[in-house]
Amino acid sequence: MISGSLRALVAAMGAGEGTFWLPSQASETAAEVDASFRLVYWISVFFLALITFLLVFFIVRYRERAGYERQQAPEHNTPLEVFWSVIPTLIVIGLFWSGYRSYLSLAVAPQNTYEILVTGQKWNWQFTYPNGYVDAQLHVPRDTAIKLIMSSQDVIHSFYAPNFRVKRDVIPGRYTQVWFTPLATGEYDVFCTEYCGTSHSAMLSKIVVHEPNEFDAWLEEASDFLTRMPPAEAGQMLYRMRGCKQCHSVDGTVGTGPTLAQLFGTSVSLVGGATVTVEENYLRSSIVDPQSQVVAGFEPVMPTYRGRLKDEEISAIIEYIKTLNQ
Ligand code: CUA
Repeated sequence: MISGSLRALVAAMGAGEGTFWLPSQASETAAEVDASFRLVYWISVFFLALITFLLVFFIVRYRERAGYERQQAPEHNTPLEVFWSVIPTLIVIGLFWSGYRSYLSLAVAPQNTYEILVTGQKWNWQFTYPNGYVDAQLHVPRDTAIKLIMSSQDVIHSFYAPNFRVKRDVIPGRYTQVWFTPLATGEYDVFCTEYCGTSHSAMLSKIVVHEPNEFDAWLEEASDFLTRMPPAEAGQMLYRMRGCKQCHSVDGTVGTGPTLAQLFGTSVSLVGGATVTVEENYLRSSIVDPQSQVVAGFEPVMPTYRGRLKDEEISAIIEYIKTLNQ
């Protein structure tokens, strides 16, 4: 098959480490995706060179000049037309075959996968592990097929992990999936690739690939943070991991939401004219029912955390906010 030998040829040119066009391959399916890309790439390079050469060659060869007599153009040449119809048809069939094969590998997950729930929201990623622990980073064991079951809290986001060659829209009210098998330990980037509002470009995360025998220990230790840490410290961790930090600064900078610095104990004006004192109950209600008491000058864009943060987690965040007065 044409595509088979071309595949082998192009695979030899630039596989392995990251190249000018493609980042390093961190998943099993990445090699197949890249082979399709390189097939298209080198066929395009070949025809660009061929057509450019012929163009220049004909311009020089058939230019108007002294002693040159113009000739009648031939009207029809059946063998030539068959030739330039059949060859491109074979090429696009080869491209389809290569693309379809890698598409199937990406679309069909194996039977036994480790499943992690992914939630996209304005503007962060949340990864929920089988034991219920939620993290802002995606931790996975190497050499294990990982399946992500993804959904959105608000608008359409798109989960994109270039090193793993996976990218899929994350949609409210519906689940989408991607799967991959990580090949090498390390940290890799995650992006949102669907414009989703003000802080779309800050909707970043990492995939951290662990050694298979170290992953369980990591998960156990990470899940245990509320009992291991003082509440204010646990609250700081939740602030970073659960999407607070994208909108609420702790240094006085005004973001999409009010800053948390020097906030506790002050009086704030709300949309509608009322004034409240920032104490535990106001903070709690702002987390579970953020639309009910919006601070004047801000948009009502915060998603609710009702059912998504446990009571002791909310208390820990409030304890952390108190420390920001010092
Ligand atoms: Cu989420 Cu862009």
